[in-house]
Amino acid sequence: MFSPVDNARQEITQAGWVKHLDWETEVDSTNSLARRWLETEEHNSAVPALFVADRQSAGRGRSQNKWWSPDGCLMFTLVIDASQMRAEQKDWPQLALVAGVALARVAATNAPKAEVQLKWPNDLYLNGKKAAGMLIESGPGHHWLVGIGINVNVDFADAAKELQEKATSLHKFAGIGSSVTPASFLIELCSGLQVDLKAWRSGEDAWLDAWRQICLLTGKQVQVQQRHQLLVGLCQGIDAHGQLLLRTESGLETVNSGEILAWQ
Ligand code: BTN
Repeated sequence: MFSPVDNARQEITQAGWVKHLDWETEVDSTNSLARRWLETEEHNSAVPALFVADRQSAGRGRSQNKWWSPDGCLMFTLVIDASQMRAEQKDWPQLALVAGVALARVAATNAPKAEVQLKWPNDLYLNGKKAAGMLIESGPGHHWLVGIGINVNVDFADAAKELQEKATSLHKFAGIGSSVTPASFLIELCSGLQVDLKAWRSGEDAWLDAWRQICLLTGKQVQVQQRHQLLVGLCQGIDAHGQLLLRTESGLETVNSGEILAWQ
């Protein structure tokens, strides 16, 4: 019988955008798997490449955090070639936001009962709790590794207490009769990413308005830890480069990297 994973493999391959697909039962981290692949072979024509795992033994998050990677969580890394997309290092912050918009749109379709928001730079929140995160890294050559983890059908009974309080899973907000699975979500997300990345590189900026409309932090008092300072200010949304805007005591600050510690 055809499983949801077989179906996803077939649909993604037939769609033709992804040129290399590797779907593992378990790996350490799909970002690490993708990096090893990039380091050992010549892949100029085999990108975008997609690395998916049903489970990860060492899933990684931003800021050296771990990513809890149980069954029911969709975990994958999309490898793209920045030069093929005519993108440069300066476009990196936008990539995270464009990918976030695609993720939020697919989440909204599958979780109609949730308020879907993005927390800068690229965490997905459903009704105020985190459902997905993104780890974007640069790889050998001009490659970018877009690693995404989304709790599609995750049961948090075995999770750490902190996760039980702060995280959620998409299936809790699904419509009646929904049969969303990590595999079905991936089919939709691949197609969404293809469309949105293409539009972005053609100069369209619909992603910016879409992002601003669902920005979790706008209007909130936010603390951002940067390498050398802690910034506190009222969030004014994002600018066209994808930077966070904070009205602080010393004026308007643009933040291009940092960890959001708190918001209220
Ligand atoms: C975060 O929230 O800090 C980012 C989490 C990113 C997790 C995904 S799961 C697939 C890919 N492989 C990893 O090791 N991390 C990313």
